[in-house]
Amino acid sequence: MRLSSLALVLSVLGGALAQDTSLVEVKRAFDDALIPGNISLSFDPKALLEVTFPQPAGRPIILKAGVQLPRNATAGPPTFSVVGSVGRGPFVVAAVDLDAPTPQIRTSAQIRHFLGGNFVFESIRTPLLLTNTTPALSEFRQPTPPAGSDPHRYVFLLFEQSRAFNTQTLVNSTTSIAMFSIGNFAKAVGLGQPIGGTFMLVGPPPA
Ligand SMILES: *[C@@H]1O[C@H](CO)[C@@H](O)[C@H](O)[C@H]1NC(C)=O
Ligand SMILES: *[C@@H]1O[C@H](CO)[C@@H](O)[C@H](O)[C@H]1NC(C)=O
Ligand SMILES: *[C@@H]1O[C@H](CO)[C@@H](O)[C@H](O)[C@H]1NC(C)=O
Repeated sequence: MRLSSLALVLSVLGGALAQDTSLVEVKRAFDDALIPGNISLSFDPKALLEVTFPQPAGRPIILKAGVQLPRNATAGPPTFSVVGSVGRGPFVVAAVDLDAPTPQIRTSAQIRHFLGGNFVFESIRTPLLLTNTTPALSEFRQPTPPAGSDPHRYVFLLFEQSRAFNTQTLVNSTTSIAMFSIGNFAKAVGLGQPIGGTFMLVGPPPA
């Protein structure tokens, strides 16, 4: 086998192995990383949320819960897909940094890195892919952990959208992204508990 095709096979295998495939494992990873307590939500996923980061060169990266990525692989914006039976939506997707400015001193957490609703399955060609039919309340922001910080936990969550979501006034495009609480937001807007999620660790770029 030529080296290039061997590399391709390995990267395809790696891609297949690298993403979440088990709800039990995703739940365990959330519990091990103490995420449910930190977001004040219980986490009993009934579907896999696939978060995919396109890469400038090479294959996109699909998160596996707890994976650590170099910051420069997280420019995004990511796309979201759902594996599991969750109905037709609409859905809300949120992403928060639990560890700002550092995991030891989390005084500005959570930072809202994405919040969008009216996500639906739109395309017959890509039936698992979510598309948002309205602009996000907070567009995706790339992780920017400060120099010297340990890696932060960036958590992505999928919710069934409530009726109240489209008339909520808590968050708009000009609301500060710092000191956010996805747990409080979910409670206020009636989103209930997340039905899926995953997370990544991202540290500052090497000095
Ligand atoms: C939040 O997570 C941190 C670990 O980063 C942990 O030390 C702390 O106990 C957690 N808090 C709760 C309420 O789960
Ligand atoms: C990220 O940086 C590393 C080290 O500088 C480099 O090898 C890699 O190609 C970069 N990746 C992207 C997606 O820019
Ligand atoms: C955004 O919300 C703030 C209150 O949090 C409000 O003062 C402001 O007018 C809102 N902006 C828009 C564009 O709706």
